[in-house]
Amino acid sequence: MRLRRDEPIELKTPAQLAIMREAGLVTAAALQAAVAAVQPGISTAELDAIAEREIRAAGAVPSFKGYYGYPATICASVNEQVVHGIPSSSQVLRHGDLVSIDCGAIVNGWHGDSAVTVRVGPAGEDAEADALVAACERALWHGLAEAVPGRRLTDISHAVQQAAQAAGRYGIVREYTGHGIGTRMHMDPAVPNFGRPGRGPVLAEGMALAVEPMLVLGSPRTRVLEDDWTVVTTDGSRAAHFEHTVAVTADGPWVLTAQDGGASGFASLRAGVLPSGARASARVSASAAGANAGGELGHGL
Ligand code: MF3
Ligand code: CO
Repeated sequence: MRLRRDEPIELKTPAQLAIMREAGLVTAAALQAAVAAVQPGISTAELDAIAEREIRAAGAVPSFKGYYGYPATICASVNEQVVHGIPSSSQVLRHGDLVSIDCGAIVNGWHGDSAVTVRVGPAGEDAEADALVAACERALWHGLAEAVPGRRLTDISHAVQQAAQAAGRYGIVREYTGHGIGTRMHMDPAVPNFGRPGRGPVLAEGMALAVEPMLVLGSPRTRVLEDDWTVVTTDGSRAAHFEHTVAVTADGPWVLTAQDGGASGFASLRAGVLPSGARASARVSASAAGANAGGELGHGL
């Protein structure tokens, strides 16, 4: 992690952000299609194929495929896998599994990046897992809410950490961070999920960041498996990972990878209720109309 930058943070024009919004929407649709297919008996390779089909049908390109040799469109990380799990036909989901799906798409050279964690099977059967997932998603939204011009980078980090700690005794993975995003998937600055507020670059209109907390039930220490990709907890405890790409705009945070631009997520925070995650985004056309009185936070599309 480095907070000192080698290059200036890329600033996007409104026209460029509009293209990033397209990439964000394609990413959201691909993720949603994969999440909708999650059920006992499906393999993570099948989820990968669904996401890739969705991205290519939109005329976009999967951003992970070929990235430092990464072989797939999504990362699918099951249970003690934190991030960067490689989809496989031999990884078949079972009732009770916790699966994090991470996906990215490129439209005209501009990137979107987003991740969600879902439990295989109905909610309510595993209170510990449900609470972990809710805490991670809530921490993400608290971080996203700080993506406002004039705030500092670590205001985001601090908000994520505070929310995670307020939610319970979760481990916050520190070895991986969020990142700037735009003409590349990973750009400066790194966006840590912990830290004191008021440090790092001042956030400015036109910046875009991927905020991505990773919370675990046990120790936050991780290691990488023999495949050189899959990150697992060293103690085998289960993990959750949520991510959105957000643009810093004069009208506030514009969540490019949320179908409603973030309106319902922020409304949930304000109402003190947990955003209801991938399942809510699957129903977003029904729910956003009510929750999202402010439209796209000023960004009519
Ligand atoms: N989306 C991941 C991130 O959030 C990166 C995936 S790594 C890849 O930073 F190689 F799979 F692309
Ligand atoms: Co990312």
